[in-house]
Amino acid sequence: MITFVWAEDENGVIGKDGQLPWTLPADMAFFKKVTLTGNVAMGRKTLESIPNPPLKNRKNVVMTRNESYEFPGVVVCHNKEEVLAENEKEDKPLHVIGGVSLFEEFLDEVDMLYRTIIHDTFEGDTFIPQIDYDKFELIEKVEGTVDDKNRHPHTFLIYKRKG
Ligand SMILES: NC(=O)c1ccc[n+]([C@@H]2O[C@H](COP(=O)([O-])OP(=O)(O)OC[C@H]3O[C@@H](n4cnc5c(N)ncnc54)[C@H](OP(=O)(O)O)[C@@H]3O)[C@@H](O)[C@H]2O)c1
Repeated sequence: MITFVWAEDENGVIGKDGQLPWTLPADMAFFKKVTLTGNVAMGRKTLESIPNPPLKNRKNVVMTRNESYEFPGVVVCHNKEEVLAENEKEDKPLHVIGGVSLFEEFLDEVDMLYRTIIHDTFEGDTFIPQIDYDKFELIEKVEGTVDDKNRHPHTFLIYKRKG
């Protein structure tokens, strides 16, 4: 099974200057809970945007076109087929966690979408690619809790591919 896991603002912004534009610990906790169930695949820039990478207790599969790229604790792949072959070594979901080109690469294969919408607008330079939500069924919608540490209203949405 392949999933996408991401957070976007009201305009589809997902990143700015190589970082997340917001601070939302509740979404980080949700992201961790979902991704701990499998392997994670990401682009090289997303890996390098993570504080203290790689993500712990998950196999981190990273895509780059740089044949000599190495990073401690990650599996480096150079195309989608290598990523899929790496994931098939275990019977686990593959959670694609960005960025843009990774989401585009796996759009035809993805089975589940874990989408957090942050009900606010941020400056950004990286946007979630267009997804045809008609091809997916919304199976869960949970409003996040706003508190001192999570100041942006947010909704957790889970979709499953139809058919
Ligand atoms: N809000 C969210 O949920 C979320 C999720 C993920 C990321 N982000 C944000 O998005 C930004 C980073 O994402 P991004 O889209 O700019 O970059 P990215 O997709 O993480 O990384 C791009 C790099 O991945 C490699 N790559 C991409 N497609 C490839 C392919 N088909 N084959 C081989 N290598 C490939 C290339 O690495 P080389 O240049 O090394 O060849 C490319 O430069 C940051 O701001 C981050 O914080 C947000």
